[in-house]
Formats: sequence, C-alpha cells, structure tokens
Amino acid sequence: ARFAAVVVAAGSGTRLGAVAPKALLELGGRALVDRAVALMAECGADPVVVVVPAAHREEFAAALRGRAVTLVDGGAERQQSVLAGLDAITDPAPPVVLVHDAARPLVPPDVVERVVGAVEAGARAVIPVVPVTDTVRRVDGDTSELLDRSRLRAVQTPQGFDRVTLVGAHRRYAATPVTDDATLCELAGHPVALVDGSTDALKITHPFDVLVAEALLARRAN
Ligand code: CTP
Ligand code: MG
Repeated sequence: ARFAAVVVAAGSGTRLGAVAPKALLELGGRALVDRAVALMAECGADPVVVVVPAAHREEFAAALRGRAVTLVDGGAERQQSVLAGLDAITDPAPPVVLVHDAARPLVPPDVVERVVGAVEAGARAVIPVVPVTDTVRRVDGDTSELLDRSRLRAVQTPQGFDRVTLVGAHRRYAATPVTDDATLCELAGHPVALVDGSTDALKITHPFDVLVAEALLARRAN
C-alpha cells in the first residue's frame, strides 16, 4: 500500500463529559473510531493500526465491526499512544504513515489525498491547516498582546510523514511533551509542510462539537 495509518483513539474524553471513552461515541449510529478508520481504509491505508484504551479493547473491537485493523493499547498521553501505534506497523511497512485522531470522524477524502500527495512529493512532515477565524491575543500574566491573525493557522489531522523520519523523531523526543506529531519532526530538524485542511475536519472535543458534527452529517446524508 502507499501508506499506513495510525488512528489514535485511547483518550478518555474528559472535556466531552458523559460518554467515556470518547472514540466510542456514536454519530449517526456509528462510533467515531469506526468512521475515522473507515475513512483511512477507503483512502487506501494498509495497515490501519488503532490505538485504544487497554480496559476497553472488546468494546472497540465490536465498534469496528470486523474491520481489518491492528488493535494496540494506548498510553497515558496522546504522544505515547502514537508511538505505540507506530511500533505496531509490521513489515512490509509502507514508506508513508498518516497519524489521525479518532476524534475527527468527518475529514473529507480530498484532505487525506493532499496530505499523502505532499509526502509522496518529498515533504517529510505534512499538516492540514485552516485559517483562524477569531481574533487571537497572547496572554502573559496581567498583560496581553494581539497576534496577527492573517499569519495564524489551526492544525488538524491526519498529519502525514515519511515513516522512518517520524519514528525516529518520536523515539528521540519521547520525553518532550508536544501536542502534535509534526512538531516532533520539527524538533528533529525537518521542516513542516502545510496543505489546506477543512472545517469539516473539526475535532470533537466539547458537547458543542457533537452538535456541529451531527449537522454536518445530516447535510451529507450518510
Ligand atoms: N488520545 C490517545 N491517547 C491518549 C490521549 C488522547 O490516543 N492518551 C487520542 C484521543 O483518543 C483522540 C486524539 O488523541 O482521538 C485527540 O485527543 P483529544 O481530543 O484530547 O481526546 P481525549 O484526550 O480523549 O479528550 P480529553 O482531552 O478531553 O480528555
Ligand atoms: Mg486529550
């Protein structure tokens, strides 16, 4: 296959409240993790590794309804979950790997294609981004400063990588906490390439996001 995928689904969903683990939350009758995995598979990912909370393996297997995936136990932080997933990619391992959040179930396939395409064109780390719509200020104690919004971007997943580069960066910087995988490649000295993401690729974090995702799904009718 052209690329492997690691879908991280081992978080608990603290900010969402109610349902735990978050990736089992159903949207239109299907779990978030099932939607995220289906997207990766339909775009051509093989293998697809799904990183799940160790205590909920069976529920995840059921939610994935017999899909051909490798299930791996996650870690305490997302970064550890990703590395566990990367370590489970077996030979022959594709040259490219995507890392995707189960919490982003509605990513349009064209975003996936742009990310994979940019890695295949030579970028070692690729992130989908969208413009920031709010005015943003950086707060420092009692003072704050306006940031130039036209130069800000919000970062999404799936992020795409030269697999060997990403695995090396994850191992080297395992003790440096970061919130995304491209940042680890950057720490290791590799530039990060940007492609257009999509507002549909929103991350389900708060209850508000579930309402938005349900509306997007209704518009799609599937
Ligand atoms: N994730 C993971 N392992 C962790 C933490 C997070 O695999 N230890 C995954 C989540 O399952 C999610 C993605 O990383 O798909 C993005 O994380 P986030 O949106 O923060 O999800 P949660 O950590 O579950 O939510 P919260 O932070 O509100 O608890
Ligand atoms: Mg989290």
